[in-house]
Amino acid sequence: MLGSVVLLRRLGTPTQTRRLLSLSAKSNKKVAVLGAAGGIGQPLSLLLKNNPMISSLALFDVVNTPGVAADLSHIETPAKVAGYQGNEQLQQCLEGCQLVLIPAGVPRKPGMTRDDLFNTNASIVRNLSEAAAKYCPKAIMGIITNPVNSTVPICSEVYKKAGVYDPARIFGVTTLDIVRSNTFVAELKGLDVATTSVPVIGGHSGITIIPLISQAQPPVSFSDEELEKLSDRIQNAGTEVVNAKAGAGSATLSMAFAAARFASSVLEALNGKAGVVECAYVRSDITEASYFANPILLGKNGLEKNLGFGKLSDYEQKLLTEAMGELKGNIAKGEEFVKGN
Ligand code: 2OP
Repeated sequence: MLGSVVLLRRLGTPTQTRRLLSLSAKSNKKVAVLGAAGGIGQPLSLLLKNNPMISSLALFDVVNTPGVAADLSHIETPAKVAGYQGNEQLQQCLEGCQLVLIPAGVPRKPGMTRDDLFNTNASIVRNLSEAAAKYCPKAIMGIITNPVNSTVPICSEVYKKAGVYDPARIFGVTTLDIVRSNTFVAELKGLDVATTSVPVIGGHSGITIIPLISQAQPPVSFSDEELEKLSDRIQNAGTEVVNAKAGAGSATLSMAFAAARFASSVLEALNGKAGVVECAYVRSDITEASYFANPILLGKNGLEKNLGFGKLSDYEQKLLTEAMGELKGNIAKGEEFVKGN
């Protein structure tokens, strides 16, 4: 009781706390979620509604957006929520956005790879990217829809066709791979997960996910066998969730958390905060793959500097070599999908 009185005094009244929160962060950004009524879209929209940097939250989907928007609009945070349903409302949803997040699409079922989603999700991402290229070409784009290794190249090709391509503004959201790595390493080593940081490079599926345990902070050490087991778990963590959900979809809650973290970092950087770094999948000339995820310094225009990935251990170098063929194949598939249509 005494503890909570002291804590309340420190925080002020709830009203004061909320006012301080909204004053300390500039609440001036319009953010759109395309696919907002889906499994990832709903929890992501909830987390974004709680982000004090967002003044306007534009929720788009093909069905159910009015209900999701009405529900979220009752929450006592500054963001004004609006729901948009059907393609004819995409213009209104997207105009004036600084950040667009795309979780739209179908999820995996047990036995499927992310690439198995290509036939359905590729055209969804292409169509939404066409709308974003038209109505908010300068917005930062964060693509969550799988297969991310291919959907980011799809979005880029659409922007090129529209004559508005800026590689610094198009990101594949791989943050969940980092979130998972931090969690698993902290659990194994008994560390505080809040201060555990593991970079993850490459792509966002199976063997293309390359955790850099050798660069973990704080530094950790594992036997070769432990390292192999841990890396394999991180690479297949999405499948772990798909199997546990047994046909009801893939990771939605942890994915939403990760995408909200990425969005928050992008918005902080847009607002002028220095030194914001997230791993993300971007256009790249760091390796022979033309898109690659690694730590990125974010800035007022999206990607400010590609920080590369430093020195790899022999084991990580082996994982990178193994990943290249698949990653390049996924990229080519995405690019050809747009060029051939
Ligand atoms: C995952 O890694 C959904 O791709 C997402 O679980």
